[in-house]
Order: sequence, then structure tokens, then C-alpha cells
Amino acid sequence: MSSPKSLLIRRARIILPNGELIVGDVLTRDRQIVEVAPEISTQTPTTEIDAAGLTLLPGVIDPQVHFREPGLEHKEDLFTASCACAKGGVTSFLEMPNTRPLTTNQQTLDDKLQRASSKCLVNYGFFIGATAENLPDLLTAKPTPGIKIFMGSMHGQLLVDQEAALEAIFAQGDRLIAVHAEDQARINQRRQEFAGIHDPAIHSQIQDNQAALLATKLALKLSKKYQRRLHILHMSTAEEADLLRQDKPSWVTAEVTPQHLLLNTSAYEKIGTLAQMNPPLRSPHDNQVLWQALRDGVIDFIATDHAPHTLAEKAQEYPNSPSGMPGVETSLALMLTAAMEGQCTIAQVVHWMSNAVAVAYGIPNKGAIAPGYDADLVLVDLNTYRPVRREELLTKSGWSPFEGWNLTGWAVTTIVGGEIVYDKGKLNTEVRGQVLTFL
Ligand code: DOR
Repeated sequence: MSSPKSLLIRRARIILPNGELIVGDVLTRDRQIVEVAPEISTQTPTTEIDAAGLTLLPGVIDPQVHFREPGLEHKEDLFTASCACAKGGVTSFLEMPNTRPLTTNQQTLDDKLQRASSKCLVNYGFFIGATAENLPDLLTAKPTPGIKIFMGSMHGQLLVDQEAALEAIFAQGDRLIAVHAEDQARINQRRQEFAGIHDPAIHSQIQDNQAALLATKLALKLSKKYQRRLHILHMSTAEEADLLRQDKPSWVTAEVTPQHLLLNTSAYEKIGTLAQMNPPLRSPHDNQVLWQALRDGVIDFIATDHAPHTLAEKAQEYPNSPSGMPGVETSLALMLTAAMEGQCTIAQVVHWMSNAVAVAYGIPNKGAIAPGYDADLVLVDLNTYRPVRREELLTKSGWSPFEGWNLTGWAVTTIVGGEIVYDKGKLNTEVRGQVLTFL
């Protein structure tokens, strides 16, 4: 009989579930954390990590990513994306349905799960995408964190922009509905008004704050009518944050991306179409209001909306350039750097990037460093700063909107299910994550 796999992390600065920081040891056995204490002695044969000077956090759960497989593997695939996750300290992800074919029924969901089980280095879950016609699939497909609705910023089957079709989805079933909230009618009208302008900065005016607010208001209205669990994906405007501050039912959650906190419309001058995403970047005022809403709990957690496109695709002239930016490799370091600059605390970053996500999606035993929790962990270095370098990136897309940013809190070692998947620049590509479950 083979002995259970065991890992002892020694002398780490550990962020406990109550936010307290202690210096101590963590022991894992098989896939779980079994002990957290100032000093642990064990007889079990154990791999030891000397973590003196490093900080141990629960692994990041990124609840909104686009990993492009199947069908768009020239941009990214589940293997390259999960390598990027491991390097970024992301130990679990929830992926979106706009792949080819679309993930809109049990068969396409099963196909993704099968692919992930053979090639993902970290844990995985997949949303089921709503169309105007697949209500029966939305009610039964599993396992899934929830239903994704593109209310706008989409074309083809995944666009559900008519109130009657939206209402039919909100009215039936009780699983979580996650919305991309932008009003397609307003976007269409403004696309015509601004037609012929090729400056990518116009993107933020076409898909303006009002377009986001209108859709968020509609989603909120339907959620209240049916008391339906609603999650607002990548909230981007001060207006939406103010709305939720005044009126946020207990069954509603919201997320924000590092891009919407840290970048604004000034990015177009520097990086052009690389700054183009949906919903678009906003003003410095929006950045500030979103930060405050996050600190106040109006916004619940962080997602990257990792949406890779190749540099050649991004180099096309606006509006032919696709929207989206990669993010899983930089999100934790960006947020920890913001914490070191005084925007928030390290414990808040842990809450927003692990614990609150696990709670909102009902993912059992994840998001905290405590006995009984899964051994998904990341050791970060908060003592040194290193810039984001294009040549070091693992995402197949090969670029980041944050290139040149000098960051601290980079992952040194990432552990998935008690196994070291990334250590000081080296991946262990033998490690496989597991399918996530949702309560
Ligand atoms: O900018 C975006 N790109 N936003 C989305 O919601 C979709 C994504 C993509 O898939 O490229």
C-alpha cells in the first residue's frame, strides 16, 4: 500500500480564516489540510517546504475566465491556461460558455469536463450558457456553478437581450444566474452614432456607463421579482455600484476585475486595442468608486475575466479588434501590490480572491487555511518586486495589459490538492486538478 502523500510547510506567514496572521506550519495529507499550528512535528514521511519569509494564502479561485477550448485553441487551451493559473497562484477556475461549440447543454458540458480532467493542472468548473431556447438544459445540466447570460456584448445564440426571454430564465429553477450586464439595444444605437471612428478609446463611449447600468437594473428587477440568485459579473461603473449600495438583496452578489480597479480610459493611449474589453474600461472616478464598493462589501469578490486573443487579432483596427485581456497570471500579484500600497489589507485580498468566491458559489472546503479544507495553497513573496515581462508569460496569447508594471506578491509555490504544481518558475505538468462541486 502506498503511504498517503504528505506535505509540511514550515515557518510561513499564514493568513488564518479570521484574517489574523501567524507564523507557523501547515501539514497536508492526501488532498487536505490536516493541521495548522505554530510548530508541527510529524512521523509521516513528508515533503518539506521551508517557507521562512514567505506568506501562505489559500489558492485563488478565479470565477470568470474564458479558456477557449474547444474551438478557439489558437488563442488559449485548457492546458496552457491552467499552466498560467498555476504560475499565478490560481488553483481553481470557473470557465465561460462562449467556446465552439457553445456550452449550452449536457453534452457540451461533459466534453469540457472530459478535456479538463485530462489536461488541467488546477481545479475546474464550467458555466452553462443561456440561449433563448435551452431552458430545459439550464434546469438540468450539471455539475455547473450556474447559468451564464450575455445580456449584451455578444452575438449569435448566446445573446439573450429580450426581456421576455430573460424573464423566462429567471422565472424557472433556482440555480445561480450570472449576467454580463450591458444593454445591447443601446450599444447597437451608439455603434451607429460613432461609426467610422477607429480610435479604440471610442469603445468606452459606445458601450458606456449607461449601457451597463440599464442592464444591471433589468437583471436586478427580474432577480427581485423571482427572488432568484443573481450574480453580476465584472461590474464596471460607479453608477452600478451606487445602485447596489442602495438596493442589494441578500441573494445578489457582484464581482469586479483587477482591470476595472487598476486601469482606466487613459490606457488606450498607451496600449491601444490591448485595453479593449467588455464591459470597457471606465474613468478614474469609476476606479475609485469600485474600490470603495469592494472595501464596503457592496462588491463581493474579484474575477479576472481572462479573455485571451492573439496579438495579431488585437492588432486589427478598431472595431475589428476583439475585446478581452488575459489575467490569471497577474491578478494575485496586482491585488497584493495594491494591498502593499494601502488600498486594502492582505486579508481582504484573500477574502475577495478565495473565501468569498467559495461561499458565493457554494464550493465546499475551499478558500481557507484550516484543518479539513482542501490543500489548495499559494506561497507568495511580499519582500521583492518584479515587473510583468511578456517573455515570462505562459498564456498562449503571449501578452498582458500590465506589462512593465512592477509588482510584489508573485507566487513562489502553488499547491493543488496537496501537490506542488508550480515552484520557483518550474511547473509540474503531471499534476491534475479535480472537478469542482457546488452545493
Ligand atoms: O472583453 C470580453 N471578452 N468580455 C467578455 O465578456 C467576453 C470576452 C471574450 O470571450 O473574449
